[in-house]
Formats: sequence, structure tokens, C-alpha cells
Amino acid sequence: MGGIVIIQGSRATVEIGDMAFGGAGIGRINKQVVFVPFAIPGDVLEVRILSAKRNYVTAQIFGIREPGPGRTQPRCPVFTRCGGCQWQMLDYPHQLQEKKRMLLGIIRHHGGVQDPVIHEPLPSPDPWHYRAKMQTVVGRDDNDRLALGFYAHASHRLVPVSTCPISHEANNLALDAALLIFQDMGWDPYDEVSGSGLARHLISRVSVAAGKLTVMPVLTKGTPDLEKVVSRFAERLEALAAVFLNINGNPGNVVIGPETRLLRGEEGLTETVRHVRLSFGPVSFFQVNPGILGKVADLVAQKACLSGTEHLLDLYCGVGTFSLFLSSSAKRVTGLDVSEEAVSFARKNAHHNGIQNARFYAGSVEKRLPSLIEKVGTAQVALVDPPRSGCDDAVIAALARTRVERVLYLSCNPVTLARDVRRFSLSGYRLSDLTPLDFFPQTAHLEVLATLVFVK
Ligand SMILES: C[S@@+](CC[C@H](N)C(=O)[O-])C[C@H]1O[C@@H](n2cnc3c(N)ncnc32)[C@H](O)[C@@H]1O
Repeated sequence: MGGIVIIQGSRATVEIGDMAFGGAGIGRINKQVVFVPFAIPGDVLEVRILSAKRNYVTAQIFGIREPGPGRTQPRCPVFTRCGGCQWQMLDYPHQLQEKKRMLLGIIRHHGGVQDPVIHEPLPSPDPWHYRAKMQTVVGRDDNDRLALGFYAHASHRLVPVSTCPISHEANNLALDAALLIFQDMGWDPYDEVSGSGLARHLISRVSVAAGKLTVMPVLTKGTPDLEKVVSRFAERLEALAAVFLNINGNPGNVVIGPETRLLRGEEGLTETVRHVRLSFGPVSFFQVNPGILGKVADLVAQKACLSGTEHLLDLYCGVGTFSLFLSSSAKRVTGLDVSEEAVSFARKNAHHNGIQNARFYAGSVEKRLPSLIEKVGTAQVALVDPPRSGCDDAVIAALARTRVERVLYLSCNPVTLARDVRRFSLSGYRLSDLTPLDFFPQTAHLEVLATLVFVK
């Protein structure tokens, strides 16, 4: 496939050989690497060059000559326009295999481990309608009417949606109701540029275990018609357990503002992890795919190899999601999280589940861990579940210094996981194995559970 002039707008045929982290297909034109969004390995495609940089080219599909194995019809009418999903064109078994393959490449390249043990991915029980939380943006459609939807990829351009196939059905009902209610109220969408307008977002969340729904509009300020809005939501949504309001008058693109009010209904949201009932607040972190959570907790328990005599550290513990589940297999557990709200829920969750061997502390892991270990004693097993940025060096050093025997690393970013695997190995740990966890089917997002063991 040589002889093609690679400039913006030119056309070419390309065969896709691989998939990049982030989800685009990778091929070559004249030996030049080309990234093609929504392409899959084995595809032979007609593409148009979108941009040509010195090291790589990006291109857009305009024809499929030969579909790669697993290519399928996307379900969503706004797929490719909405920035939410990248992989609806690939059937689920192939998505899982691509995630495994992607993980191998990242661990080799960024982690320096050439032959890691990677188990088969843990699938989501349902590859559709799995998202318990839906966060939409309020804006205007092409007819200048108020609309709700998601941003297009890497932009702040609204793609209106009426239903989302990866969201739980109750969230789609909430979206439907909110559109009518916000339009009837004559609310103006917030305008990022001028700072004018009222309605910014709708966040809805389903407690799958309890069959309940909460909704939370995010507005720039309070408004007198809130009581009416609450009643309208209650009329339309049978499962509604609470309506919250979040006030965000700040400029910029941070979704949640500093003030959250309960307008009607129950204070906390709930979910279960096997036998443990967990409450959390409307702005607390909680895993968005509750369907897979029990299976992940079982896997964490299996990898932790607890015999009932150990002290378990749960770093970045949130509301105690994993430590409370594991507490019955350990002598005691200690959780640490920077969010005061999450820690307060973790303590309440321990109490409500009758768990007496769990203690939770608020503080940043990188600053607080060394003094916390001095206070509560060394641990034999640690679970770390950091945000996308991964673990600070100080965290790895503190675990190694106290010779924590097993570290279970739950990661939402395989690149920082691989970097940290390298750092752990320099501190005396060996990577035992990895399991891709498919919390987010139809997307290129990849979560991983890694087991590290102390060897020196
Ligand atoms: C991916 S969530 C995991 C929460 C919990 N393990 C769960 O599964 O529900 C990451 C958590 O890390 C916390 N966090 C973020 N940065 C932190 C830091 N520097 N120190 C301590 N906790 C932090 C957040 O508040 C959040 O609860």
C-alpha cells in the first residue's frame, strides 16, 4: 500500500493490525503509522487522512473493504459522534481479547515485564445497560431547544441523546423526565463562554440492589421552582428515592460544585457487595458497574489469600467497598482515603454491617501512610486502588519499608499501573499476575487487578 501522498484529505487503503491504548485501530501507510478511530484489527479500510504529523497520521474511515473478525453493528444511533463509547463496532468476546492484548503491550512497554501472567479478562455480567450512574450535560440542540446529552470526543460540543445503551434503564427514564421538566420550566442551559444560564448537568444514579433511583440537577444557583421540579420528577419516576440539588456557580468544566442539598427523600444511596450493604453520598466516589463488583470482590479475596490472622491495609478505600467485604477473612482492616465524606460513610457502613475489626482514617495516602503504619502497626496485605494518576513513590516506599507481603493493586489506568509495577519491582516486589476487569464494556477503558509479592 505504498505510493500514496500522505497529506490532509488524501485517500488510502489501510489494513489494521492492532489497537492503541485509547481505542483507535493502528495500521501503516507507506510504513507511516496511522491511527484510525473505530477500526479493528483485521479491517481493510478506505480512509481519508485527517492530519499528518511527523511521527504519525490520523485518518477517518469512509469505506470498509473487508471487516475484521468480530466487527458488528453498533447499537447506538450517536455512536462515533458521542465521546462515551469507542468499541461498539466490536463484539463483546473480541473486546475482551483486545483488552488483554492491550494490557500485555502496556506492561511490556511501560512496566518492563516481558512475559507477565495475564489471566482471562473478568467480563461484565451485562455488556449493556451496566452503568448505574449517568452524568449528562445540558445544552442546546440544532433547533436551539434545551437538550441533554454527552460531549463529542475531546470537545465541549454537545451530542444530544435520548437514551444510552450502556446506562441502566432507570437512568434513561430519568434522562427522559429531566428533558421534559427542564424544557417546561423554561430553564436556560449554562453557557460556558458567557457564564450565563442555569442548568449545567443531570446526574442520576440507580441503586441496583435496592431498585431505587436518585436524581441530582447541577444548577448555577437555586431557583424558586425547585419544589415543582421535585414533584414532577416524583410523578414521572416510580423508583425515585431522592432528589438532590448541586449548586455549581463556578466557571470552568468541573461538574460538581461545592454545595449539595437534599431536596426530598433519603439521605444516602446504597449498593451491595455480596453480603455487605454500603451507603454513600450523592457526590462520593462509588463504582459505576455494580453488576461486576461482587465478582471483583471475590477475585480480590482470592488473591489476598487471607487466613484470618492478617492485618489488611485498604489504601484509597472510598466508603469501605473492599475492606468491609474482606474484613471477615482478616484479623483487622485499616482503611485510608483523602475524602472526609467517604471515610465518614466507611465508618457508618462498618457499624451498620456489624463489623468491629475495621478502622478508617482520613488523609492523603502519600502524606499519611508512614505515620498511620506507626500508629496501627505493620500489615501483611495491602489493597491499593488509586485514581488514574497511580501511586506516589512515597506510598510504594512505605509499603516496601514495612515489608507488606502481598500488594493487590486495583488500577483504572494500565499505563500508571505499569509504571508502578516497575517501581514496585525496584523496591523488592515481583509481579505475580494480572487480571483485566471489564468494568466498562463498549469502551476502551481498562481496569486491572495486579498481585505483587514481596521477595526481598
Ligand atoms: C478509584 S477510587 C477507589 C475507592 C474504593 N476503593 C472503591 O472501590 O470504592 C479512588 C479513591 O481514592 C481517593 N483518593 C484520591 N486521591 C487520594 C490520595 N492522594 N490519598 C488518599 N485517597 C485518595 C478518592 O477519594 C477515592 O475514594
